[in-house]
Amino acid sequence: MNNPGIGARDMVLVLGATGFIGSRLIPELRAKGIQIRMLVRNPDKVAELIKGDSGITAVKGDLLTGEGLSEALLGIQSAYYLVHSMGGRSIFQNKEYADKDRTAAELFIKAADVSGLRRVIYLGALGEKSEDLSEHLQSRAEIAHILSSGKTAATILRAAIIIGAGGASFEMLRYLVERLPVMVCPKWIDTKIEPIALRDVLKYLVGCLFDARTEGQSFDIGGSEILTYREMMQQYAEARGIGSRLIFRVPFLTPLLSAYWVDFVTPIPSGVAHPLIEGLKNEVICKDHRIDGIIPIDKTPFKEAVRIAFSEETDGPGISGF
Ligand SMILES: NC(=O)c1ccc[n+]([C@@H]2O[C@H](COP(=O)([O-])OP(=O)(O)OC[C@H]3O[C@@H](n4cnc5c(N)ncnc54)[C@H](OP(=O)(O)O)[C@@H]3O)[C@@H](O)[C@H]2O)c1
Repeated sequence: MNNPGIGARDMVLVLGATGFIGSRLIPELRAKGIQIRMLVRNPDKVAELIKGDSGITAVKGDLLTGEGLSEALLGIQSAYYLVHSMGGRSIFQNKEYADKDRTAAELFIKAADVSGLRRVIYLGALGEKSEDLSEHLQSRAEIAHILSSGKTAATILRAAIIIGAGGASFEMLRYLVERLPVMVCPKWIDTKIEPIALRDVLKYLVGCLFDARTEGQSFDIGGSEILTYREMMQQYAEARGIGSRLIFRVPFLTPLLSAYWVDFVTPIPSGVAHPLIEGLKNEVICKDHRIDGIIPIDKTPFKEAVRIAFSEETDGPGISGF
């Protein structure tokens, strides 16, 4: 079923347009003829995204204060919510990311109710409710709940690690495997995870916009394999042709210790790396596969996703955006 509410000349609002997912989604939407409006904190960042395309415009604003929101939502029927507040170089700098994300989502949904926004599509995270669920994964679920609480029909897509150049979790994996032929890891090394290729995520994000059956629904999206982190690291090394890695599991490494260790080996800011590492203890696999019946896609195998990420990013491990 196509979405009668969306036409090729409609304008869609993208929140988080300067991020890993947002910046890759915009060209996909433009290829479908969709006009884009972005709400951005720093308009200097978007010249590269716009590249003289008159179909993309930017409104300066900030979800944390609500600045620019009503202007950004004016005349908009559909929006993508691709935002989170993790960041900062120090672990102490960003203790409040969950509070910030809650404030941003609440301000957004309030403004959306006033503007009459018809639908919002949010990319959140897999992970089942439990006492053990990490703060980051709890926060992602809370945002899904807030975005579903207004008059706007919310579509929630829940994913685990996204394999694509520039994604924080992928870059963490890539630095660790590229730099360390021998690794000593805590028990999270054997946690199960369902990685998904960036291009598959983009297909689902675009597909949802064009299919009204996805309105007001939450879907799990995943790849073609369920792997442990250990298997993911080995398959990454195989895809890159850098030989297998020796990985030892030890009982004494706490999440905090492994976070410090990741700080030492990778350039990922601690404010991002620490919440992500805490979440490695949680199994993140798809529990529901209804999306396959609505947006059927040929899922990209993990190794192929790694190869694609590399073909897109040629200047060695890491990405300058961090
Ligand atoms: N990356 C993954 O592997 C992965 C996996 C599963 C789910 N997801 C989900 O995908 C979504 C997008 O993540 P991402 O990886 O693309 O993140 P990202 O690269 O860190 O981008 C975050 C975006 O949010 C914007 N932002 C943050 N605070 C803002 C505020 N107060 N006002 C306006 N914009 C603000 C940032 O803008 P600035 O440029 O101004 O900082 C940036 O554009 C998130 O919901 C995340 O949970 C990601």
